[in-house]
This record gives sequence, structure tokens and C-alpha cells, in this order.
Amino acid sequence: MLNVVEKVLVTQEEIVKRSIELGKEITEDYKQANEIPLVVGLLKGSVPFMAELMKHIDLDFQFDFMDVSSYEGTESIGDIRIMKDLDISVKGLSILLVEDIVDTGRTLKEVRRMLLNKGAKEVKIVSLLDKPERRVVEVDADYVGFTIPNEFVIGFGLDYNQKYRNLPYVGVLKKEIYTEE
Ligand code: IMP
Repeated sequence: MLNVVEKVLVTQEEIVKRSIELGKEITEDYKQANEIPLVVGLLKGSVPFMAELMKHIDLDFQFDFMDVSSYEGTESIGDIRIMKDLDISVKGLSILLVEDIVDTGRTLKEVRRMLLNKGAKEVKIVSLLDKPERRVVEVDADYVGFTIPNEFVIGFGLDYNQKYRNLPYVGVLKKEIYTEE
């Protein structure tokens, strides 16, 4: 285990097992609704989870990525900056947004609102992790892998200063790592 990890919260085996369950649930829900989603990953954190999850969604869907960043440190929370937009128009499409974690909820709330404004028919959310204690705006993921306590986590897509996204598990970052800097 990397020496920056306090403890492992979710193992690789647990993530794979849960991704299989979520993939089945998503497949059944969309089949029942007679819809095929455009699966949209939010860069960069969603990549490992999306790669795992997609293998277990048994539908003929397409996928794409978006990169957004929030205007941090300002009072304005109603805005996000689009760093990379989708390649195709979302008009009339059912979107399944894939995220690594729902924390304050601001990112997903804004991205969902923006996609609906652009004419998406519906926007559903699947997130590997949910940290409900940190929520400041109301947004709920339709599918959640694991609900976790209010700790800063890294791995399986989640970073600290852009590092540790490649860890095959989700771990709690040692406090001394982010208090040292
Ligand atoms: P929100 O808009 O506050 O919900 O923030 C979501 C984004 O914050 C996620 O996509 C992550 O990139 C980042 N984030 C939130 N909590 C953590 C964490 O514990 N570790 C790493 N990144 C996090």
C-alpha cells in the first residue's frame, strides 16, 4: 500500500462486484424505459470507474466525455466552465452522467442543469462514491456505488493534486499529506 494511504475504504474486488450490480440495474432500467443513454463521463475522475462499469451495461450505447471546472474561490456557484464539451448535440437524448464522487453536489447540479438547458430529454447520474455529509446543494445520484464518510479519498480516479488516480482501490489520504503543504 502506498505510504500516503491511511486505510483502504473500498477494495478493487468490491468495486468490480458493485459495478456488475450497477451495470445490471442500469441495463434493466433503460430496457424497461425503452431508452438508450448517451453515457457521459466527467474527466478525469470518472475514467477508471466508467471503464469498469461500461463492461456491465448490456445496451448499444455510445459514450463521450466532458471536462468542467468550477469557479473556485468565488461566491458564484451557479457557474461552471466547460473545458471540453461533448462532441454531439444532446438534444432529445437521455444522458447517463458518470462521476467519481458526489461531494458538495455543485458540479453535478450545474452539469445536469446545463445539459437539460441544451435540450437533453433526461439526465441520470451514476457515481462511484457519495459523501452525503458534505452536500451543500440538493442533488441525488440515481445510482451510487458506495456511500462513504466525510474523509478525503484518493484512488480509482480520485486525485490529490492530480496524483494517485491510478490506485486500484479507494483509500483515505493521510492527513499529514495535505496539512504539510
Ligand atoms: P462537488 O461539486 O463538490 O460535488 O465536487 C465533485 C468533485 O470534487 C469530484 O468530481 C472530485 O473531483 C472532487 N472531490 C470531492 N471529494 C473528493 C475527495 O475526497 N477526493 C478527491 N476528490 C474529491
